[in-house]
Amino acid sequence: MGEQLAVDGGTPIRDIAQRSWPEWPIADETLWSERVEPALREVFLSHVEGLPGPRAESFAERFADYCGTKHARLLVHGTDAIGAALSAVLDLDAWGEGGEVILPNYTFIATASAPLDRRCTLAFVDIDPETFTMDPDALAEAIVPGRTRAVLPVHLAGHPADMDAIRAVADKHGLAVVEDCAQAHGARYKGKPVGSLSHAGTFSFQSTKNLTSGEGGAVTTDDADIDARVAGFMDVGRAPRAGRWEYPRLGWNYRPSEYLAALLSVRLETLDAETDHRAKMADYLTRQLRAVPGVTPPIEGEGCDRHAYHLYCIQLDTTQFGGHSRDAIVRALTAEGIPCSPGYTLPLSETPALAHLRKTYPEVVRVLPCPNAERVCANSLWLTQPLLLAETEDMDDIAEALVKVQRLMSCAAVAS
Ligand SMILES: Cc1ncc(COP(=O)(O)O)c(C=O)c1O
Repeated sequence: MGEQLAVDGGTPIRDIAQRSWPEWPIADETLWSERVEPALREVFLSHVEGLPGPRAESFAERFADYCGTKHARLLVHGTDAIGAALSAVLDLDAWGEGGEVILPNYTFIATASAPLDRRCTLAFVDIDPETFTMDPDALAEAIVPGRTRAVLPVHLAGHPADMDAIRAVADKHGLAVVEDCAQAHGARYKGKPVGSLSHAGTFSFQSTKNLTSGEGGAVTTDDADIDARVAGFMDVGRAPRAGRWEYPRLGWNYRPSEYLAALLSVRLETLDAETDHRAKMADYLTRQLRAVPGVTPPIEGEGCDRHAYHLYCIQLDTTQFGGHSRDAIVRALTAEGIPCSPGYTLPLSETPALAHLRKTYPEVVRVLPCPNAERVCANSLWLTQPLLLAETEDMDDIAEALVKVQRLMSCAAVAS
């Protein structure tokens, strides 16, 4: 009998019981005993596990430096960071309506839920078909003067959005811009780090992210007023360094524990080396995949100086796989020992939560035509960042598995 797909009982390209993939976050004994344990121990013995938060402050300073901004604040989630940043750039008083925020229709739900939580309405726009980030022309067409107040581009998968074009449109209409950098720590656009390319940048340190403390978030900005408003938002409305019982603004509690800051401080030290390694592996894999029929590896758009590769997003042409579905391809690759997923299968506006909102409160959500987002949702195959922490021979397994799946599936076309 000829070669068979592993999903049909054949031998997998990679036996993951023998050769597992790197796990995330990196958990090795030496790192624990030499760096993490002493850092956590120091917090424990210091009697300062929360306020006044000296480690949170010093991590925030280092992170601001890393992002090339004057200020940063450490919060407990990326979602809160988006809410805090929007509240600060729009100077919201927490009760009045926030105005409309324009966001790309290919992103995680937090990019939408955070502005809704701040009483902002939404307008979903299309993405660029190659970089999967907000299309600046679609943004320009969506703006409604007097209604639109802010733009929320996402550096999706680690690829920076086209910030010059987005800023030009936003500036023309006097709109605030907040970058959602949750998937893009360390990415650079035209020489500048993400998080420094707009009024404020927001980050997530949730457990899958390229820099993590299990949960966590940050806001970066160059603007001292925005920073002070973020500080109030996350610390029950207090002004930085003001009296404990003074609340000049309404605020909430999104303060991090000192343990979280201590862990992030350790992991920030290796972020650059890990990001470089992922980029090197992504580059190698892309060269291996270029010749595989029906497979389009990620494309780095103009201005992308450094892709953070939180995700390695492939586009599939299923007609080159004998008409087998994207889900069947995902199943076949997984059986070959290559963990992968379809990623977002619907534009965000079409997911049940947003569809319900649109139906119940049509005035709250506008959806502009999004053919690119629809296509990308239908054709994507995602590999996640820990795989790119492996080595070139492991990338060869990914390429070999895709070659095998494409060849065998195209020979066994689905009857039409
Ligand atoms: C694009 C994007 N924005 C925002 C978030 C929210 O971050 P968090 O999960 O830390 O609240 C995430 C994280 O999953 C994300 O991927």
